[in-house]
Amino acid sequence: MEVIITSSLQQIGTIAADYVENLISTKPAAVLGVATGSSPLSLYAELGRRVDAGTLSLSQASAFMLDEYVGLPADHPERYRTFIERHFVAATDIATNNVHGPDGAADNIEQACAAYEQAIRDAGGVDLQILGVGTDGHIAFNEPGSSLASRTRLKSLMEQTRQDNARFFGGDIDAVPHHCVTQGVGTIMEARHLVLLASGEGKAEAIRGVVEGPVSAICTGSILQMHPTATVIIDEAAASGLAYADYYKFAYANKPDWQRPVCTSRGR
Ligand code: GLP
Repeated sequence: MEVIITSSLQQIGTIAADYVENLISTKPAAVLGVATGSSPLSLYAELGRRVDAGTLSLSQASAFMLDEYVGLPADHPERYRTFIERHFVAATDIATNNVHGPDGAADNIEQACAAYEQAIRDAGGVDLQILGVGTDGHIAFNEPGSSLASRTRLKSLMEQTRQDNARFFGGDIDAVPHHCVTQGVGTIMEARHLVLLASGEGKAEAIRGVVEGPVSAICTGSILQMHPTATVIIDEAAASGLAYADYYKFAYANKPDWQRPVCTSRGR
């Protein structure tokens, strides 16, 4: 696992965008995994800037979302599909038809989840998966206790997660659904590169669990320790609970050029 500690949310977005640009430069039709939440917003904005500048194009790329609420009407502004349309699709030149999400409104959720897994496989799997992390250490909506081998399925949300996400629902926790469909931990682990983004002191404990805690279903993000290519990009506040922060900083500062992403828009 590579841990990159930066000074700002803006920097997190820039470094993550470098990885996306590097991938697209060798594989224009790459499959991206996209996340919701506030953590990836600076990345989507930076991808948009590069598309506008003509140094990046996602026109041949496709994307799969991590999760979706169950029970929100199709026109609800906080449906994750709507979120991804607003912050990722609208900012870049990716085709909306090439962006897929799990169906939280299906009559048969189990069947829809199996079909989603199949669609990811049919697309050749996810090349680069963007992840955030919940304050309880969850990735996607894999709440504590989720099987580390889980696949896309229905989950019940923790009270803490609903509380955290109430800010998107005008602060009203009662408006936050109790259920969701989410890619499983096993599904996420099949992506070829995992890139987890987090900022702020509120994420320090979750990040300590993800990076330095025991691998455990109680903190599903800790499974990144078992992935051969995982990158964690965080700010100083989110890194404040890490015992080995100085070492991660040293390793990144001294990383050989040939190991860094190649980005025309940033001069390398
Ligand atoms: C939700 C999403 C997660 C996301 C998390 C953190 O729970 N399902 O995918 O990582 O929120 O969100 P934020 O980045 O806003 O803190």
